[in-house]
Amino acid sequence: MAQNVVPDRLLFFDTTLRDGEQSPGCSMTHPEKLVMAHALDDLGVDILEAGFAIASEGDFQAIQAIAREVRRPRIASLSRAKREDIERAAAALEPAERARIHIFLASSDIHLQYKLKISREEALDRAAESVALARTYVDDVEFSPEDSTRTDMDFLCKIVQVAIEAGATTINMPDTVGYTVPDEYRNMFRTVRERVPGAEKVVFSAHCHNDLGLAVANSLAALEGGARQVECTINGIGERAGNAALEEVAAALMVRQNHFRMDHGIRLERLYPVSQQLAKIISFGPSPNKAIVGSNAFAHESGIHQHGVLSNPLTYEIMTPESVGVPSNRMVLGKHSGRHALRSRLSELGYELSSEDLEAAYRAFTELADRKKAVYDQDLMNLVAHHRRHADLIAAEPVGEA
Ligand code: KIV
Ligand code: ZN
Repeated sequence: MAQNVVPDRLLFFDTTLRDGEQSPGCSMTHPEKLVMAHALDDLGVDILEAGFAIASEGDFQAIQAIAREVRRPRIASLSRAKREDIERAAAALEPAERARIHIFLASSDIHLQYKLKISREEALDRAAESVALARTYVDDVEFSPEDSTRTDMDFLCKIVQVAIEAGATTINMPDTVGYTVPDEYRNMFRTVRERVPGAEKVVFSAHCHNDLGLAVANSLAALEGGARQVECTINGIGERAGNAALEEVAAALMVRQNHFRMDHGIRLERLYPVSQQLAKIISFGPSPNKAIVGSNAFAHESGIHQHGVLSNPLTYEIMTPESVGVPSNRMVLGKHSGRHALRSRLSELGYELSSEDLEAAYRAFTELADRKKAVYDQDLMNLVAHHRRHADLIAAEPVGEA
């Protein structure tokens, strides 16, 4: 029986282990893929694209092992619109509790002409045949007209229609080269959903690349256009500039719940731990200024910001660090910091200062901060110890000290 039920909540399709893994510096061993698959299950993703079964023996084995071990999410394998790919994907997914074959076939003229060297008519035939073949193995087939955003609209509607008629249950319209902009992508979904007969029976999906830094914005726009599945990766890893970052999409839906009003199954407090897990496995972590999971995402150095956050975090934070699994916000002490942050940090270190002592400590701190890029806890402790020796900070007794 076909699925054909459009969900009332947003589905998260994670492709960290496929689109993410196929980018430089991101390859993972078989055991590492299993660790990540369990972490993604724990995070709450709905569909887990475990690899591209025909790409290598290693990918085949990893998909098979994940299908065997990870039982809650639906497990997907990528496949070209070819018999041998579909058969290989079906074999790898055989142990899965719930399986999906994800078929992609280029639809833009530039891809048809220069990459596949086939006509539009041939593409339509291959789309229909491959989806129908996949449906003989699984009841859940996703079809992606690759490079949808550079595809002629009439032809995009045609190929989507053919795929739906052949039994596709999800239609993904990828922005393969990260070319589109939010308004255009939103309208693409609206137009296809309006024009294609049977569109109401399938789930539409967004899959965005970040070549212009718009992957998350475009994904969110697609939701406004009627997409109910979003394809993402942890830390936004993926081909070239990467894919839409799962943690950013999920956090946007939380912070702007008043705008999107969409339920989903992601456990937000698992976002940071999963991001850290991935960073340990692959050869790089998120950049410090990366939204949600970067080390500066909840760090404050300037005095005005630090004062605000210490009075009420909502002044400069639109979500709490804890809500996305980050242990706590971080006050970075540097030359832009003020007395409030210094007092707070010294207090955390066990030093309660009088106003005069704080003033003396602050003078010493700003001199030091002018010379050093960041002032660490050890610097502060040295600073207090130095001044106590010189009797400037006589009253600065660490709490609990005899
Ligand atoms: O970016 C893309 O077009 C893809 C497809 C295989 C869905 O990753
Ligand atoms: Zn992609």
